[in-house]
Amino acid sequence: MTREFPDGETYLRIEGDVNGRAVALLCTLHEPNPRFLPLAFIADALRDMGATSVGLVAPYLAYMRQDARFLPGEAITSASFARLVSRQFDWLATVDPHLHRWHALSDIYTIPAVALQAAPLLAAWIRANVDNPVVIGPDEESEQWVSGVAATAGCSYIVLEKQRRGDRDVSVSGLSGQDWGGRTPVLVDDIISSGQTMAQTVAQCRATGSAPAVCLGVHGIFAPEALAALQQAGAARIVTTNAIAHPSNAIDLSPLLADAVRAFWRG
Ligand code: R5P
Repeated sequence: MTREFPDGETYLRIEGDVNGRAVALLCTLHEPNPRFLPLAFIADALRDMGATSVGLVAPYLAYMRQDARFLPGEAITSASFARLVSRQFDWLATVDPHLHRWHALSDIYTIPAVALQAAPLLAAWIRANVDNPVVIGPDEESEQWVSGVAATAGCSYIVLEKQRRGDRDVSVSGLSGQDWGGRTPVLVDDIISSGQTMAQTVAQCRATGSAPAVCLGVHGIFAPEALAALQQAGAARIVTTNAIAHPSNAIDLSPLLADAVRAFWRG
């Protein structure tokens, strides 16, 4: 059980016997700042009470996008966060972490860490729900997901170019003169945060004469106004996995995560 003291500190109590048991903690890590400290306390308490190992299942892994020092003095928070998690847990399972300048979790995590892929599940959703799709990736980083999704869904894909000038100031290009041929664009990205990447891509598709686009995100963070921006841009449907709970969740990651936990426990 958990509750907040009047001073804002957290009370935690583990109701159960973990002595001699391997434990997996499930905690997705959007809005990570208030979540991480209680999580670290629980991991400590579990060890103190005799757990033989404590693993972390974080369907969404926070702080992966600041993967370089772009401006002098910036903190490379992906590496710092990885050090904190690696100190507290014996292993980590996550889904499609944002690997761009880091090529693998092992670049920054020092514990066994597995990056599960939602691509087969996204592809299955497309096959079941969209006639004549073409998968669109909004930027070069997305090619790693969209190529696999399109191959499994049995359709083609297009990767666009993105220019980001600020947190909510994004433009995409690469669709001028596009012949849609009756295909429905299915936008695929790892993260929907401000929603601007997807919204600008939806708008570009519409401007070049496509059918209303379907938006498919692995991690639906949905900052304030993100959903409205996507709807205003003309998205036909917005679908996410349940890595982060949201009304748009339509793709269940539980079997993928359960398999990963079993694999860690088998060693
Ligand atoms: C970019 O690096 C990511 O793959 C996503 O495209 C990005 O995080 C989406 O962010 P937003 O919804 O704020 O445009």
